[in-house]
Amino acid sequence: MSADHEIDNLLHEERHFAPSSEFAQNAIAQANLYEEAASDRLGFWADQAKRLHWHKPFTKTLDWSNAPFAKWFHDGELNVSYNCLDRHVEAGNGDRVAIFFEGEPGDTREITYAELTREVKKAANVLTQMGIKAGDRVAIYLPMIPEAVIAMQAVARIGAIHSVVFGGFSADSLSSRIDDAQAKLVITADGGYRKGKASALKPAVDEALAGDKCPSVQNVLVVKRTNQDVNWVEGRDVDWNMALAEASDEHEAQAFNAEHPLFILYTSGTTGKPKGILHTSGGYLTQASYTHRNVFDLHPENDIYWCTADVGWITGHSYVAYGPLANGATQVMYEGTPETPDWGRWWSIVQKYGVTILYTAPTAIRSFMKMGSSIPAQYNLSTIRVLGSVGEPINPEAWMWYRKVIGGGKAPIVDTWWQTETGAIMVSPLPGVTTLKPGSAQVPLPGISAKILDDDGNELGRGHAGLLVLTEPWPSMLRGIWGDSERFKETYWSRFEGMYFAGDGAKWDEEGDLWLLGRVDDVMNVSGHRLSTAEIESALVSHPYVAEAAVVGAKDETTGQAVVAFVILRQSQVEAAGDADHVSKALRDHVAKEIGPIAKPRTIMVVAELPKTRSGKIMRRLLRDVAEDRPIGDVTTLADTSVMDIISGKVAAGAND
Ligand code: WT7
Repeated sequence: MSADHEIDNLLHEERHFAPSSEFAQNAIAQANLYEEAASDRLGFWADQAKRLHWHKPFTKTLDWSNAPFAKWFHDGELNVSYNCLDRHVEAGNGDRVAIFFEGEPGDTREITYAELTREVKKAANVLTQMGIKAGDRVAIYLPMIPEAVIAMQAVARIGAIHSVVFGGFSADSLSSRIDDAQAKLVITADGGYRKGKASALKPAVDEALAGDKCPSVQNVLVVKRTNQDVNWVEGRDVDWNMALAEASDEHEAQAFNAEHPLFILYTSGTTGKPKGILHTSGGYLTQASYTHRNVFDLHPENDIYWCTADVGWITGHSYVAYGPLANGATQVMYEGTPETPDWGRWWSIVQKYGVTILYTAPTAIRSFMKMGSSIPAQYNLSTIRVLGSVGEPINPEAWMWYRKVIGGGKAPIVDTWWQTETGAIMVSPLPGVTTLKPGSAQVPLPGISAKILDDDGNELGRGHAGLLVLTEPWPSMLRGIWGDSERFKETYWSRFEGMYFAGDGAKWDEEGDLWLLGRVDDVMNVSGHRLSTAEIESALVSHPYVAEAAVVGAKDETTGQAVVAFVILRQSQVEAAGDADHVSKALRDHVAKEIGPIAKPRTIMVVAELPKTRSGKIMRRLLRDVAEDRPIGDVTTLADTSVMDIISGKVAAGAND
């Protein structure tokens, strides 16, 4: 009930911001894009794809005959890395800066397109010498340093498939991802800088591969970043810096089919096992490049673009490693955390490089808001002309603050809705075209078709809330789940015949703008990162103290949602477990070890019972009421209605760090 209330309040949002005529005049995207795409959707996408360089031009745009397995531009051939690098150098833009790198300790590197191309060619030669061939899988576990982009581009260049694992994931998570993809090589670093200190990565790789855990791995390439001491396995480990120094910088990019796999990226679903989302080459790069250009109004010769996402997430793939490079953009890459050495760090970077386009997440915006406007006010942010938001709904307050304090009261904000699975932005305003509404992602981009349906699959119109579906295939759509085509069909294509079910609730307002209402499945969104309730529950029950666990995402002011866990202790362990604080610490540490620190529950509640239906399904809705301190909702379907009284008298052990 209270959630509905909030939504209604949101929909009474009446502030509208029309584009300035000056912005509209110079904008990349013009209003006719919508008509163009609507009148000939496939022709529109073919035109977008033609902005890339094709070694062999395609003649077919889409083959959907084997739905839901799409083929885009599938008789064409291209090389993704050639499109991101060589062609800019050949066009005379080799001296343009591709990456302004800012290390957390304050060290900097300026890498031009010519230099980046050379580095990627060397890395491609190193990979080939190590026996990596087209189709082989390479795991990448690196901090936010240029080598992450170089490694991804080099893997793509030789037609191998990368699987980037976020550096914040644990050895166990890394190990299961390496194993699922049967990776032959792991590219890592000694460590990276975070929160003012060197944070090691290599030990997690050693642990992930220990014993015979990942027999597919033949080598580990290790980048030197922090100069920490690392354990070295002779015959397996190879020094990246030395290998690249010796490698030739000549490498001719070979053409691959448009449907050649480009990468796998694991994301949490509704079960305990992460899904390896598979993306391919031509369609992915087409849409990453098209959206990056139009949604951010990129003028590559003038703009300084900065996306704060880590390469471990899809945003760091599409809007750091591929989209911007395909478009010849100059971008900033920052290694560390926003509060190091103080909360002015991001704004000092904006000022130093003259950032014009900033793309970040609502959780970061809310943290800055909490720290106060006086911090960004100390810096010159006047170069900023476009702001982007991604990962979760942005509340109107944060939207207004972002516009006023960071955007000088005039920069358009593009609230971009998309997913790991969609590969690129799907719903978003177009700056210079769309009249903006704080809190709404607004309309499907030209070329994208979305609907909102009720539970029975009836289409809903203005003023109604339901389930968001995508009704037509799009170029950067996932092509499957690695090794599990049944799960692919079942998860996304079985709920509604012939349509992609996104897992998000959404509502059309009276003017036809779309409002995202959060996940409708057992997936949580913490700081814009997707976490699965089932995955955390299975981590919790793997601890000896725990007999049963139920996890919910509770509303949190800063992180959007926070992980709240309800656990029943094993009778035999109650004494050993000790007080609630001890239980809480032990279990939070355990989850960090099993999955990674991002998955640590904010709060653990020790309870005697869990609310279940007669068929044994945990009623998370009721637990969410408890976690958010609301009156408990309807309990009539509970097997035992007294359970909620017991839980309300729970022992809560909170912890915040
Ligand atoms: C889920 C996808 C897209 C890259 C980052 C997250 C939520 C994402 C928005 C937005 C409201 C959003 C959805 C979606 N989400 N962007 N602008 N407004 N919700 O990628 O981990 O694949 O998560 O994030 O719930 O389904 P992801």
